Amino acid sequence: MINVLFVCLGNICRSPLAQGIFEDIVEQRGWQDFFQIDSAGTSAFHQNEKPHHGSIAVAQHHGIDLNHQRSRPVSMGDNSTFDYFIAMDEDNYHSLLYEFGIPKEKTFLVRGFSTNQYQSNKPLSVPDPYGKGDKAFEQVFELLQYSLNSFANYLKQEQNLP
Ligand code: 4NP
Repeated sequence: MINVLFVCLGNICRSPLAQGIFEDIVEQRGWQDFFQIDSAGTSAFHQNEKPHHGSIAVAQHHGIDLNHQRSRPVSMGDNSTFDYFIAMDEDNYHSLLYEFGIPKEKTFLVRGFSTNQYQSNKPLSVPDPYGKGDKAFEQVFELLQYSLNSFANYLKQEQNLP
C-alpha cells in the first residue's frame, strides 16, 4: 500500500481539494487498490469541520465530492502510517520537518512535481485561498490538478505502477 498524506495549515481549503483531486486521478488510472489517501492540517484550528464551501464548490464543478471529509490535525502517529507527506506551501513543509519530525525523504512540496528543477525561481507554494473569492479557489484547483498529475507520473515510475 502506498500511503499519501496531503498537508496544509487548516485542512479545510487546499489539502482537502488535493485529496479529492488525487483520489480522482488514482481512480481514473485504476490504481485504487494500491493507495491510501488522506489529508491533515499543521494546525487544529478547524478540527472536525467540513471543507471550506469554496473548495466544495470548485470540486463539485469538476465532478469531485468533498462533503464526506472532516478536518484533522497532523498527528505524531502519521509518521509511521504515511510514506509521502505532500505540503501545499513552504510553511507547511517546514512544520512537517521541524514540528512533527517527518523525515526529509518523505516530505515534498506539491508544486515541486510540476516545476522544472532548472527553473529555481518558479513559485513552489499553492497560495492560500482562505478569505479570498471563488476565483482564488479555481486557481488552486488548476494548480493542484496540474501538480498532482505530475505527482502521479512520478509515482508511476518510482513505484512501478501499471
Ligand atoms: P488551508 O487554508 O490551510 O488551505 O486549509 C486556511 C484555512 C484556515 C486558516 C488558514 C488557512 N485559518 O487561519 O483559520
